[in-house]
Amino acid sequence: MEIVVSGIRPTGNLHLGNYFGAVKSFLQLQNEYNCFFFIADWHSLTTHPHPDNIRKSVKVILAEYLACGIDPEKATIYIQSDVREVAELYLYLNMNAYLGELERVTSFKDKVRQQPDNVNAGLLTYPSLMAADIIIHKAVKVPVGKDQEQNMEMARRFARRFNTIYGVEYFPEPASFHLSEKAVKVPGLDGSGKMGKSEGNAIYLIDDEKTIRKKVMKAVTDSGPTEPDSVKPEPVANLFTMMDIVSSKETYDYFNEKYNACEIRYGDMKKQLAEDICTFCAPVRERILDIIADDDYIDKVARTGAEKAAESAAKTIREVRRIIGFRP
Ligand code: TRP
Repeated sequence: MEIVVSGIRPTGNLHLGNYFGAVKSFLQLQNEYNCFFFIADWHSLTTHPHPDNIRKSVKVILAEYLACGIDPEKATIYIQSDVREVAELYLYLNMNAYLGELERVTSFKDKVRQQPDNVNAGLLTYPSLMAADIIIHKAVKVPVGKDQEQNMEMARRFARRFNTIYGVEYFPEPASFHLSEKAVKVPGLDGSGKMGKSEGNAIYLIDDEKTIRKKVMKAVTDSGPTEPDSVKPEPVANLFTMMDIVSSKETYDYFNEKYNACEIRYGDMKKQLAEDICTFCAPVRERILDIIADDDYIDKVARTGAEKAAESAAKTIREVRRIIGFRP
């Protein structure tokens, strides 16, 4: 079975945009591939050298993915820092990674601008750690957002370079497949664009009903159409897109007809949308809270995941050591 690897940044809770994007595609991938999903806690040291409560954030993220249906029986789900073999491969890759190429990576240049007082080597070598994450399992496919394309180029380059330098055909070149092309795009309800944490317009899976209603009722609309069958301006189109994602077809059609007949009452529509979002989120939120409260279960999942990932990683490291010429 083909191997898939993907890393999850342990920053913030999952929102509806994440759910209908990355999470949904993970749910599908775990049925079709040999998947390794991990929480990239080492990577977070590049920006937060002393992360407050990293264990806690990792635990919450893990609970959220499990609550959404990532199945530890199907996929290997683990925490990056539990698998030390990754660090050894990172070391080897760094020996053949060059300052010039690392400095040219756009996300590195962005970080230099964002944190001029902490331009550390981890930031510079972020692409080698990411490459190690991927090729440690000899993955051939990596589901990522478009923003990761340059890191993926680097991963392919490092895999190829390893093979060339040591005269082997050992690491396959990992292909990216872009989540954004397949996934449903969840809009923000603040007038334009997509839902995102940094956009400040996110509805989180753990939001309670009151919070959800408040966020939905604040959604930006307009004064309503004056001509039948008008094209919907973006804020209103976003409201409909959201309804298309979470509500029934009947509900969507009902409000769509109202809109087309210039009889839409956005207040009613928002109330319905808020209900439907609550109905969607409530069981997920309950599962998240149940799992977060069950330390033994989370520990067991993390431990089992780490064991499975370490087995695959140790095999690679044994072979890499032999290829380079170290004692196995
Ligand atoms: N860089 C990725 C991001 O910011 C996270 C990540 C780290 C990753 N290692 C990875 C993704 C390996 C895919 C494969 O989202």
